Amino acid sequence: MFKILKKEYLANNIWLMDVEAPRVAKSCQPGQFVIVKTDEEGERIPLTVCDYDREKGTVTIVFQTVGASTTEMSRYEVGESFMDFVGPLGCASELIGMPIEELKKEKLLFVCGGVGTAPVYPQVKWMKEHGIDVDVIIGARTKDIMILENEMREVAGNLYIATDDGSYGFKGNACDQINELVKNLNKTYTKVIAIGPMIMMKFVTILTKELNIPTIVSMNPIMVDGTGMCGACRLKVGDEIKFACVDGPEFDGHLVDFDQAMRRQRMYKTEEGRAMLKLEE
Ligand code: FES
Repeated sequence: MFKILKKEYLANNIWLMDVEAPRVAKSCQPGQFVIVKTDEEGERIPLTVCDYDREKGTVTIVFQTVGASTTEMSRYEVGESFMDFVGPLGCASELIGMPIEELKKEKLLFVCGGVGTAPVYPQVKWMKEHGIDVDVIIGARTKDIMILENEMREVAGNLYIATDDGSYGFKGNACDQINELVKNLNKTYTKVIAIGPMIMMKFVTILTKELNIPTIVSMNPIMVDGTGMCGACRLKVGDEIKFACVDGPEFDGHLVDFDQAMRRQRMYKTEEGRAMLKLEE
């Protein structure tokens, strides 16, 4: 059993929990995910790791209540335990695997939106721990639904906040903020890492293609069971078919077919849609 040691409401139905899971904490790397199952009947919920403390043996997860399983999960309190907490799964961020000296030559821009701020945080923290300053954009519709701003401020070289309604920071979406940095403030980047809602990642990759900046995206939002079995996270990357949970979750954003992935994501939500997808495969 995996005990909840901390529970905090962040915003916009997004919760943070510290879970006692020493074996996962010992080996997980930024970019990887875990599968949580609340009890015998609970569904498998894949969640990207937000933070880990190897000494305390804890793993921090952040999730948004979007359906019955995550709502059930949010009802668990400190002191209660999840039945399963399996991981680390998936591949670690490709940046973490690069030689430090190579990484130091890169000019990295992390772009996060919504609950996607959580998987970006451990990557930026890792960079800071290895002496690498990176720029980070947190984009949100409005100030009230922004999460992890203070935590990110502590680890980012420069943090840029953008809200669609201008209630906080720069007025505009993540793409407007990238344009502002690159075109008006003459910033140069060798790589963009975008993690957030599918629609945000799609438009960021369209923009970075124009700007000629290689871009990594995380296809975590399309995962359902995280095992390679359900087929929900099947996506086209260039000429290849991949599974986000097995081959990713990170991919070259300029090669991902976002329209197909979003269509599949919508269809997967209904019984009939799932049957149609099976026929297509
Ligand atoms: Fe089910 Fe990847 S999430 S196959």
